[in-house]
Amino acid sequence: MAMRTRQIHLARRPDGLARPDDFRMVDAVLPDLEEGQVLVRNLWMSVDPYMRRSMSPEATDLEPWPLNAPLDGPSIGRVVESRSPKFSPGDLVESMSGWQEHFISNGGEFVPYLSPSDTLAIRRHEGAQPKDYVGLLGVAALTAYRGMVSLNRAKPGDTAVVSSGAGTVGSIACQIGKIQGLRVVSSAGTDEKVRWLEEIAGVDAAFNYRTNSLDEALRARCPKGIDLVLENASAEHLCACLPLMNELKQILIAGFVSTYSTDGKVSLQRNFEYVLDRFLTIQSYRFMDSLDVYDQFVANMLQWRREGRMTLPEVVFEGLENAPAALCSIFSGRNTGKALVKIAD
Ligand SMILES: NC(=O)c1ccc[n+]([C@@H]2O[C@H](COP(=O)([O-])OP(=O)(O)OC[C@H]3O[C@@H](n4cnc5c(N)ncnc54)[C@H](OP(=O)(O)O)[C@@H]3O)[C@@H](O)[C@H]2O)c1
Repeated sequence: MAMRTRQIHLARRPDGLARPDDFRMVDAVLPDLEEGQVLVRNLWMSVDPYMRRSMSPEATDLEPWPLNAPLDGPSIGRVVESRSPKFSPGDLVESMSGWQEHFISNGGEFVPYLSPSDTLAIRRHEGAQPKDYVGLLGVAALTAYRGMVSLNRAKPGDTAVVSSGAGTVGSIACQIGKIQGLRVVSSAGTDEKVRWLEEIAGVDAAFNYRTNSLDEALRARCPKGIDLVLENASAEHLCACLPLMNELKQILIAGFVSTYSTDGKVSLQRNFEYVLDRFLTIQSYRFMDSLDVYDQFVANMLQWRREGRMTLPEVVFEGLENAPAALCSIFSGRNTGKALVKIAD
């Protein structure tokens, strides 16, 4: 029988910071399932910085979100009804069909960001809760893992600098760095986040980039230079690291969140000569190139959490109607850790 659900649509494209009223809640009717299809009820969805870029038509590496149509984004839900032999009612399934309470999947195989958004992967790992698949085991966590485990060439005792250290990628990257025996220095936008980094995440030194000079704060905290940068925030932060880089070392760019609410243009304003003089490698990367280590990633993250060496604070927004506010909160700098939307129990 056809069923009613609710979806969030993009009502207009923002100029500058996104606002909750750029979105609209819409009632929708889903048709009866056809052979091979699956009806899913979403439980949790993720909001992520890249979504601000999906709201604008300028992004060169993303399909912009359509106006007045269903959106996509990471989510975890339960199969309610299945006409596919691959899925049974009750299965926990990850997809890219966030921003809606229910959706119909054609039952294809899920490859995050690379397959159609309605494709599904059954998730069943001992010790994992549903919300972990959009948090501790979600795409931002895999981004931190790819940077710090798959790409990182630093050795125990080396100094790593991580920006946006109290965000999702940053907080997990800092903790992986400590597990690897690195000396971790991190920056964040409030004193409370700096305290969290030092007292809970266990970094060696942290500072508030809004109230300190980047150059001075980094120099004071990196007396032996920098061997690895994991950049999440900005070209300003990256450029401030350059004069402190040791020879032949590595800068990994997960993203420049500071540019997403403007035109996305980036200029390396200063210190670029150090890239040449110190023979540095600068690499921008994406999490989906680490899907081959997904099982190892899940096992390590769950083990580290069990051992008390990994934690991810969550800021939970209740109800699909609060998903727009959740996305906008990312750019306010208020959240420590991961912003999540709880859609259903
Ligand atoms: N390459 C990939 O495959 C991939 C995948 C996922 C994420 N990423 C990137 O990784 C980075 C971090 O993402 P995330 O998921 O960790 O985000 P997050 O958990 O939402 O944290 C974002 C943090 O960015 C900081 N921020 C927000 N607006 C800012 C601004 N205008 N200027 C400077 N900092 C700002 C805030 O911390 P402060 O208070 O400290 O400023 C905020 O807590 C982003 O650049 C994102 O695009 C890349």
